[in-house]
Amino acid sequence: MKLLVGLCVALYFAVIEASLIPDPYPESKEDAATLFQLWKTDYSKVYRKSAEEGYRFEMFVSNVKHINNLNKQHRGEVTFELNQFADMSPAEFRNTVLMPKRTPPVHPPHKYMKVSVTDPLPESFDWTEQSTQVVTSVKDQGSAGTCWAFSTIANIEGQWAMQGKTLTDLSVEQVVDCDGSKDEKDQKADCGVFGGWPFLAYQYIQKAGGLELWTDYSYCSGIGGGKGSCFPCPAPGYNKTLCGPPAEYCLKNESCAAKVDPSKFVPDLKVADWKAISQNETEIAAAMMTTGPLSVALDATMLQFYRRGVFAPFVGCSKTALDHAVLLVGWGIETVFLEKKPYWKVKNSWGERWGQKGYFNIKRGNGECGINTQVTSAVLQKA
Ligand SMILES: *[C@@H]1O[C@H](CO)[C@@H](O)[C@H](O)[C@H]1NC(C)=O
Ligand SMILES: *[C@@H]1O[C@H](CO)[C@@H](O)[C@H](O)[C@H]1NC(C)=O
Ligand SMILES: *[C@@H]1O[C@H](CO)[C@@H](O)[C@H](O)[C@H]1NC(C)=O
Repeated sequence: MKLLVGLCVALYFAVIEASLIPDPYPESKEDAATLFQLWKTDYSKVYRKSAEEGYRFEMFVSNVKHINNLNKQHRGEVTFELNQFADMSPAEFRNTVLMPKRTPPVHPPHKYMKVSVTDPLPESFDWTEQSTQVVTSVKDQGSAGTCWAFSTIANIEGQWAMQGKTLTDLSVEQVVDCDGSKDEKDQKADCGVFGGWPFLAYQYIQKAGGLELWTDYSYCSGIGGGKGSCFPCPAPGYNKTLCGPPAEYCLKNESCAAKVDPSKFVPDLKVADWKAISQNETEIAAAMMTTGPLSVALDATMLQFYRRGVFAPFVGCSKTALDHAVLLVGWGIETVFLEKKPYWKVKNSWGERWGQKGYFNIKRGNGECGINTQVTSAVLQKA
């Protein structure tokens, strides 16, 4: 009897499991060609040359197979889909959307926030569902390694709202264009479309004296035809040794010096300091609940085609080579086949159509993909 029940339970889960795996995308050239046309229309993709179209189709076909394999491997617990990155090879995705992989800096002890965890934390918490609104809409960085500026600004938007101010979109482009900060000791630098670090960006904003509104200094670096709809020259202080060679083509009239206007800085919004948070994920949760959404970084190589589920790649995820910065907004537990999976909820900057309306969940508790290694927040001047 016991055996029979066991068998039934096993069968039951096998059936459910099979039903959770998304139907594979058709892999034959013919069917994939039809799918490619539909996908191009859906994502308004236009290629200027037929050679490029041919190349993109090859990538698409190879990604279809890759995604089908990922879905099979993850047994429906995490799913992957054809999204806006479906015509990019994983290598191209890494080179244009992600930042070059870097080890996270360790900050001096006095920069760490003192976090006390006394009360037991709730089983779940989500800043996007609180009555106090501290998370702005999901943005799209396009094809530029500017995630670090989006992560920084998203944290500051939250800190501003935590002070009781109206939730407001702040200028990411100002930080991309103007911040060439570096830390000689850690050999880290902010490099515009070639990556950067939130802890340095807070320091730029502190020195600059403020931030413009998104609507006054709007994002243009990674959007529009191919490489961007604006071509800012490197930020003052851009360091070629740490950042690599800057883009070959740039326009002075679209650069920081020509665009930034301190008279438009949001009144009273001043960064006074910044803090790091320990790698202990219980302390990170406690800090986030009391402080507001936090800037975090991770290895996002395997996130390219993520759709839903608790992200925990089997391979290809480093805890020490980070290439993406995002915003931690919550945590919870998902139960899959009676197994409890603790996760973090994270706001991404790849548009609202990506993942779960622009968000993803990632395994919580074991430093998955380095998510706990570069947790920081700006400290705003008290108004
Ligand atoms: C760039 O960074 C390197 C490495 O930290 C440093 O040696 C060099 O002086 C910097 N260059 C400039 C122009 O600041
Ligand atoms: C900057 O100059 C270029 C070339 O003269 C022009 O095409 C572009 O529209 C200008 N951009 C802005 C923001 O004025
Ligand atoms: C993490 O922090 C909590 C609360 O401060 C503490 O109880 C726990 O022992 C820490 N875990 C580790 C692995 O240090």
